[in-house]
Amino acid sequence: MKGLALSDTVLSLIAAIPLPVLVIGSDDRIRAINPPLEAVLGRDLIGKHHITALRQPVVIDAIARARAQGAAASVRFVSRDRDKDTPYLVHIALAGQDIVLSFEDQSAAEDVGKMRRDFVANVSHELRTPLTALLGFIETLGGAARDDAKARERFLGIMAHEAERMTRLVDDLLSLSRVEEDERVRPREQVELCGLLGSVIKGLEPQAAAADVTVRLVRDSDTLQVPGDAGQLTQVFANLIENAIKYGASGKEIVVTLEAPVNHLRLRGQGVQISVADKGDGIASHHIARLTERFYRVDTHRSREVGGTGLGLAIVKHIVNRHRGRLLIESELGQGTKVSVFLPVESLS
Ligand SMILES: Nc1ncnc2c1ncn2[C@@H]1O[C@H](COP(=O)(O)OP(=O)(O)OP(=O)(O)O)[C@@H](O)[C@H]1O
Ligand SMILES: [Mg+2]
Repeated sequence: MKGLALSDTVLSLIAAIPLPVLVIGSDDRIRAINPPLEAVLGRDLIGKHHITALRQPVVIDAIARARAQGAAASVRFVSRDRDKDTPYLVHIALAGQDIVLSFEDQSAAEDVGKMRRDFVANVSHELRTPLTALLGFIETLGGAARDDAKARERFLGIMAHEAERMTRLVDDLLSLSRVEEDERVRPREQVELCGLLGSVIKGLEPQAAAADVTVRLVRDSDTLQVPGDAGQLTQVFANLIENAIKYGASGKEIVVTLEAPVNHLRLRGQGVQISVADKGDGIASHHIARLTERFYRVDTHRSREVGGTGLGLAIVKHIVNRHRGRLLIESELGQGTKVSVFLPVESLS
């Protein structure tokens, strides 16, 4: 039995639904399809047999089953595009003689799942390396090196270093989860940036001296207030300056610049720009967009050697987001790196 044509009202209602939707008549032909699904399956499908349009046995079988059993069902469907696969959960519902299919895009949920798995794999991997080293040294100290005072001292030094690395990793992870937790809560206090930057630089002086690099603060005025969280902003600039010391020390000089508030397109309003620039080796352009991903390091080996876990910039990014600011990383191989933080000066509630 061939159903009557769907009314214009029904067709426009279906067209207005943002989820991809398909209506199949009792003759198994397509009665309606909305633009989001046309983008997936193609155009001019009205009147065609649904098998021609869907072409996926799992979905076709599920439609036949739903019709035979008179019960709704859901199946997974993967649309294979030239450049990517999109997984959908297809809900098959009965509507009188018709069958209505709605497609729920599962990419975001699957990406979250993948991110979680990658995250656990990364953390485990980062912890396993120092743990393996520690276990090895404990064994050696209990056996072969038991009576060798010199070896014992050296091994204990390495063990302390590995244990410190694990502590730092755990601290960074805790700090990341804390920052993520309150990312939606706007900071309420006022923070004075000149003093804050000065004390961050002072705190890193021993590290800079050890790397034979100087850190200079350039600023227009003596005080500059922004709404912010002092502890978190300290963490941002400590991370950035520490990175410049760790990876850009060959340039001998790091310049931290604090510019007076101006209108910034990036902030859609008044804001300050704080930049940390080094003259080190720089970063190849294809790495730049990924630097704020957790655990992403350009040179894993070198970063590990200097005690890096690849979480610093991920933390920076979250804190800057919480402040409704912007982060900009510019770098050129052989020239150096400049990381800028833009912070709004007016409290955005
Ligand atoms: N100023 C810089 N010059 C060159 N490379 C840099 C610079 N800043 C960051 N990088 C690169 O970006 C990577 C990621 O930096 P990030 O601060 O997130 O991690 P990390 O310094 O390795 O570890 P952590 O900050 O957790 O101790 C670094 O491993 C390094 O390869
Ligand atoms: Mg870092």
